Amino acid sequence: MTGNAKLVAGGKDHDYPVLAGSVGPDVIDIRKLYGQTGMFTYDPGFTSTASCESGLTYIDGDQGILLHRGYPIDQLAEQSNFMEVSYLLLNGELPSQAELEKFSYTITRHTMLHEQLATFYRGFRRDAHPMAIMCGVVGALSAFYHDSTDITDPRQRMIASHRLIAKMPTIAAMAYKYSVGQPFLYPDNKLSYTGNFLRMTFGVPAEDYVVDPVVEAAMDKIFILHADHEQNASTSTVRLAGSSGANPFACIAAGIACLWGPAHGGANEAALNMLREIGHPDRIPEYIARAKNKDDPFRLMGFGHRVYKNYDPRAKVMQKTANEVLDKLGVTDPIFDVARELEQIALKDEYFVSKKLYPNVDFYSGVILSAIGFPTTMFTVLFALARTVGWVAQWNEMISDPEQKIGRPRQLYTGPTQRDYVPVGDR
Ligand code: ACO
Repeated sequence: MTGNAKLVAGGKDHDYPVLAGSVGPDVIDIRKLYGQTGMFTYDPGFTSTASCESGLTYIDGDQGILLHRGYPIDQLAEQSNFMEVSYLLLNGELPSQAELEKFSYTITRHTMLHEQLATFYRGFRRDAHPMAIMCGVVGALSAFYHDSTDITDPRQRMIASHRLIAKMPTIAAMAYKYSVGQPFLYPDNKLSYTGNFLRMTFGVPAEDYVVDPVVEAAMDKIFILHADHEQNASTSTVRLAGSSGANPFACIAAGIACLWGPAHGGANEAALNMLREIGHPDRIPEYIARAKNKDDPFRLMGFGHRVYKNYDPRAKVMQKTANEVLDKLGVTDPIFDVARELEQIALKDEYFVSKKLYPNVDFYSGVILSAIGFPTTMFTVLFALARTVGWVAQWNEMISDPEQKIGRPRQLYTGPTQRDYVPVGDR
């Protein structure tokens, strides 16, 4: 505690403790506010509300800083790998070599799906959005893995977490295979987490699939960049669903549903569609003008962020990775020119400068994923795959928190006051 905050309400003074984190803004602990004043706070969109205590991820949006367990995202993206970052998020510390090997071994041994799940896929239409399939299949996992749904048992929680991290690439790849009418591929334990995912997605049983190390490294970086992001909408959804004691598979399915929206995980799909629609750098001014026009609902997708009021640190790594992948694959996609030019123009434009609208992680990720060969409908699926580790780490943290309660926001009611029912014939 660092002191008190005074509030005058109903003609009386009230003191509320001010709590300090290890870094970042202090928070006013208002848990007793309603009991003492009979008032709630009003904060739609939770712009000023800390919903939990967490030791996982820290963001300084003004400085453009993102730390996982204290480690800067650019260092992790450049020097680490997704398995190590997953271990870090789940366990709090970087693993030793032996711990990393054991963790990778455990994840690798959980990548297969219950065979009955293949039948489950076949119930979907072939043109189903892969996010719809992912939501359904991940929710259904609770019907297949009963032995890891007791959330009061830390061991079962960890097994469920490992299962989710391990099976997500298989689920995502199968969603893709189903949409293109190709056979499902089983995981190959010789490959890395990311290499295995690429093979299950782009390989076919008739041929050997050789993993391109540049693509594998780029994909792994994309996974790292999406692994966790503090109390964003989907993570808060996972926590809220989990706060009632729901099983982890159901909670992650809830997170996937939330991530699907274009203001959140769907933004990279929307950003790439927008770049394609612009098509040529000459048309950029027209779209900039539309983004600024209050009467036009159009927004520059991949720009702006609730928390970052500076360059999203993930966007910088993403831009560099886009260059590497396009060079290696020899892809000359005009949308990359559009993206670069659009970024330059927007960064100098008074509207974007004054509102502190910078490129976010989604601005370049679509360009890379498209160059690798993913259809746009798979973009959010890849985000969900990577974010699963963040979701399960946050969910585990919440369940282990002695202060954890069911999440139950209050409201400012503005509907009718009490009135008497009138029978239908008398209305
Ligand atoms: N293009 C044009 N104007 C924008 C944009 C944009 N991309 N983003 C924000 N603005 C404007 C708003 O119109 C608003 O203007 P006003 O103050 O004159 O009304 C102002 O900037 C503030 O915007 P808000 O919507 O109030 O900011 P909020 O924090 O609620 O929204 C969000 C953040 C949803 C990300 C928003 O910037 C947006 O819609 N961006 C495009 C979608 C996108 O890229 N989402 C990905 C987010 S990152 C992620 O989920 C991984």
